[in-house]
Amino acid sequence: MRFSVAVLFLAVFSSCVVAYDPLDPSGNITIKWDVMSWTPDGYVAVVTMNNFQMYRHIMSPGWTLGWTWAKKEVIWTVVGAQTTEQGDCSKFKGNVPHCCKKNPTVVDLLPGVPYNQQFSNCCKGGVLSAWGQDPQASVSQFQVSVGQAGTSNKTVKLPKNFTLLGPGPGYTCGPAKIVPPTNFLTPDRRRKTQSLMTWNVTCTYSQFLARKHPSCCVSFSSFYNETITPCPSCACGCENKNKCIKSDSKLLSVVGINTPRKDNAPLLQCTHHMCPVRVHWHVKVNYKDYWRVKIAITNFNYRLNYTQWTLVVQHPNLNNVTQVFSFDYKPLVPYQSINDTGMFYGMKFYNDLLMEAGSHGNVQSEVLLQKDKDTFTLKQGWAFPRKVYFNGEECMLPPPDSYPFLPNSAHQGQAFISILIFSLLTLSLVVMW
Ligand SMILES: *[C@@H]1O[C@H](CO)[C@@H](O)[C@H](O)[C@H]1NC(C)=O
Ligand SMILES: *[C@@H]1O[C@H](CO)[C@@H](O)[C@H](O)[C@H]1NC(C)=O
Ligand SMILES: *[C@@H]1O[C@H](CO)[C@@H](O)[C@H](O)[C@H]1NC(C)=O
Ligand SMILES: *[C@@H]1O[C@H](CO)[C@@H](O)[C@H](O)[C@H]1NC(C)=O
Ligand SMILES: *[C@@H]1O[C@H](CO)[C@@H](O)[C@H](O)[C@H]1NC(C)=O
Ligand SMILES: *[C@@H]1O[C@H](CO)[C@@H](O)[C@H](O)[C@H]1NC(C)=O
Ligand SMILES: *[C@@H]1O[C@H](CO)[C@@H](O)[C@H](O)[C@H]1NC(C)=O
Ligand SMILES: *[C@@H]1O[C@H](CO)[C@@H](O)[C@H](O)[C@H]1NC(C)=O
Repeated sequence: MRFSVAVLFLAVFSSCVVAYDPLDPSGNITIKWDVMSWTPDGYVAVVTMNNFQMYRHIMSPGWTLGWTWAKKEVIWTVVGAQTTEQGDCSKFKGNVPHCCKKNPTVVDLLPGVPYNQQFSNCCKGGVLSAWGQDPQASVSQFQVSVGQAGTSNKTVKLPKNFTLLGPGPGYTCGPAKIVPPTNFLTPDRRRKTQSLMTWNVTCTYSQFLARKHPSCCVSFSSFYNETITPCPSCACGCENKNKCIKSDSKLLSVVGINTPRKDNAPLLQCTHHMCPVRVHWHVKVNYKDYWRVKIAITNFNYRLNYTQWTLVVQHPNLNNVTQVFSFDYKPLVPYQSINDTGMFYGMKFYNDLLMEAGSHGNVQSEVLLQKDKDTFTLKQGWAFPRKVYFNGEECMLPPPDSYPFLPNSAHQGQAFISILIFSLLTLSLVVMW
């Protein structure tokens, strides 16, 4: 027990220090402003938001983008998005701006808005796919017409203090930086034009900023040991234990209990881990040249359907995935030399929706892996994943001393813990350096 507390402490500690994701080191959301024309009192810009993160998407209710104007700029019009508040435009006669706030907040429009309010890649309710899952759907755009602003690349002042909610907290945006102008091809691809001026803003995600506790946990089982290693207790924090709802509660038949709330507050099924999502990894069969794993993901939130969910797993044998049944799979190779990480996601129109908690609230798949005879072993928890992420959030694994043991290998478990503590210690020392 003391070992697991130490491991826990070190894991939490090192994740505070690491501000970037080791499994997706160049993942970010880039916001690009292309000034397309100067106007008598400002400019018209196309704002493009690219989600370059391999497996972290922005789910409904979508992104919210904010910034602070450097001078007294106003927004005359927005196409393909809107600001949430107009602010005080009482100084204007005749034409009234769309927004006069010093720090405007912009959100996407919903699908199906009238054609004249649309812009390319707009109107998806702020939903952005992960780059690794659907690059075409990982971009959002709108056009903004800015007044009381500079009218040349010498007098324009870049907006400051960008903020991004995706949809909750977690993103930190750097300052806007002037970059080389973007080139555009005309639709017939025979003429090239370019923006008059371009600046980029890069936002990165940190789970530590997003939430106090993990939002998913992992449980294990195996064919060689009847013990099921459950998720750690209170893995996702037990503060709201009194607000959870038992799976056999009569309340669940009340109409409207599943309706999502404006603030996205979850309604969790009561479990000892209190996580909205659990990932279960079952070592199912050991063949001569192959072995087989069953993966199940369970939703415990009665108020949320996970659309376009992703599951990232790190395991040394993922370099020899032979077949994945009923999920899509893509290897992620952030460091060209190490092929131990992959992304699972649902098949379109089949299981890409992880339904709200209840009898339909789970998706599952099996994976067939070819053994590398030199490394494969059922000992010392080798067959279990090293890291698991659901929707880009790192899930809490059980403490190593609780992994299902091979019969007669009780002592090796202790060795495994020491190795793990040692490597975590080294890691946090390296990180602090
Ligand atoms: C943002 O992500 C892109 C794509 O992975 C990468 O090329 C770029 O260097 C990243 N930018 C920063 C500032 O990390
Ligand atoms: C600016 O952002 C765009 C994506 O929106 C990216 O393609 C481009 O490489 C970025 N430019 C620089 C210099 O980072
Ligand atoms: C501004 O525009 C001039 C030409 O119109 C160009 O030479 C200069 O590099 C531009 N400066 C910036 C910061 O884009
Ligand atoms: C931007 O944010 C920083 C720190 O939050 C603050 O000190 C600064 O005044 C802000 N700038 C503007 C223009 O709001
Ligand atoms: C989840 O999706 C199903 C089918 O689209 C729908 O009937 C249900 O109301 C949704 N649940 C929530 C919590 O949004
Ligand atoms: C990584 O492993 C997968 C099999 O799981 C294989 O298809 C892929 O080609 C490998 N990639 C690299 C760069 O080795
Ligand atoms: C496993 O994958 C590695 C690298 O992807 C390859 O070199 C090796 O031959 C594979 N092993 C088997 C047993 O297929
Ligand atoms: C199964 O694994 C547990 C640890 O999770 C261990 O305590 C138990 O002894 C193992 N059972 C057998 C039959 O080895």
